Amino acid sequence: MRKSFWEYCFELKSRHPRDYVGIFLGWQPALMVQTPELAKKILNKDFLYFQDRFLYSNATDPLGCLNLFTVKNPIWKNMRHELSPMFTAMRLKIITELMNLNAKELVLKIKRDYVDKKEMVDLKELFSMYTSDTVAYSVFGIRVSVLNDQNSPLWFITSHMVKWTFWRGLEFTLIFLMPAFASILRLKFFSEEATEYIKKLFWKVVEERNKAKNANYKDLVNHLLSLKENVKLPVDASSQLADDIMLAQVAVFILGSIETSSSTLSYCLHELAYHPEEQEMLYDEIKKAVNQNDIEIMDYNNLMELKYLTACLHETMRKHPPVPYLDRLCQKEYKLDDHVTIEKGLPVFINVLALHYNDEYFPDPEEWRPQRFNSCSEGDNLNYNFLPFGEGPRFCIGKRYGMMQMRAALAQVILNYKVEPAVPYAVRSDPYAVILAPKNKLSVKFIKR
Ligand code: HEM
Repeated sequence: MRKSFWEYCFELKSRHPRDYVGIFLGWQPALMVQTPELAKKILNKDFLYFQDRFLYSNATDPLGCLNLFTVKNPIWKNMRHELSPMFTAMRLKIITELMNLNAKELVLKIKRDYVDKKEMVDLKELFSMYTSDTVAYSVFGIRVSVLNDQNSPLWFITSHMVKWTFWRGLEFTLIFLMPAFASILRLKFFSEEATEYIKKLFWKVVEERNKAKNANYKDLVNHLLSLKENVKLPVDASSQLADDIMLAQVAVFILGSIETSSSTLSYCLHELAYHPEEQEMLYDEIKKAVNQNDIEIMDYNNLMELKYLTACLHETMRKHPPVPYLDRLCQKEYKLDDHVTIEKGLPVFINVLALHYNDEYFPDPEEWRPQRFNSCSEGDNLNYNFLPFGEGPRFCIGKRYGMMQMRAALAQVILNYKVEPAVPYAVRSDPYAVILAPKNKLSVKFIKR
């Protein structure tokens, strides 16, 4: 608990710059691999040996063990298949409209609170409000605006989820790295409070929908209700299991979409504040797109065309990947090479930081240089050297949603404000956070354009 997972992975690759390293999680041996070639084998080529994650997942915590991130096979495969249509380009186009509305609120809030009142901004909190408003719509179909100081039923849960205390950090450390311990202690992936709240909100929305008899909603609630019908469950499964499966997806989509995107946006603005030249290039690209199309707000297609903006986000996720390692469990004895055979039941991790800071592939890796990604398309993992969203069949299901959510916010903020540094450049990561988060508040000065 003295350093974050992030710092641990960084130090490990610096102290042991080898293809793979053996580590101990308490009494449990594990393997950390550190090359793109091995990452490719484990995540994709030999996926059949590594289909599940190692982290704790126990039937006593239904929401914790049945969500897409933690759920084991065979349920995972069926569920992934059913949930993937949630994130098609068509659906994302519709959600982008709302992301844009929220990004507009973001710009107004910045003016109200941080330009006019000259308060110091906490970027992580500000962007969490934005992602929370967006997820309220995409999951529940509720249009709320905590950014506009309205009461949001979701902000109650999400503000709680994004605050990392010592105990919450410890709980997650055990869940991720010492699942046997987590099982004895019956730890929960989502707090009792958040679980109750999500349940109540979900069923309230379903009830209102049933009353209105309107099935034409495009959000996750409707999709999950159909998932309940289609998901293949064991023959002796209770009806409660199907309900728990639905709620578990709601919970993980909330958690997955808020933390990662708000962290990346915060680090991106911080880097831009320290890189005025790159910031001007980004502003020019956005301004040109707005002028050319004679629009105020860019839609899905316009945002997809902003290549430099995408490069800025990619480079931020290269230098500050929100998820520092990928987690797999070996399910069948596996011969890694002539020297190492991985036993069944052994956790295998991919050190994402070892890949992203490999100076042979990314020269001067400590430098933030968006031009590294000038010719990198969205789906490109640069031969497994760039894995912020993971890879293989278990890669992040919300990748395109997350990218679009960040594009919409960054485009509007940079179009309206110039940002300048407000805190020292070197930022330590929060030792209690599982996903990368700054230890002290990340902040910038906003100057109206
Ligand atoms: C900047 C944004 C995001 C980043 C950097 C990110 C990163 C990741 C990473 C690294 C993984 C593990 C992949 C692997 O093990 O190969 C993952 C999995 C996952 N993410 Fe994301 N994520 C982001 C946004 C989202 C969003 C918006 C959602 C939900 C809407 C989401 C939901 C999930 C889920 C459900 C999984 C588990 C997938 C599975 O096991 O099938 N993520 N994400």
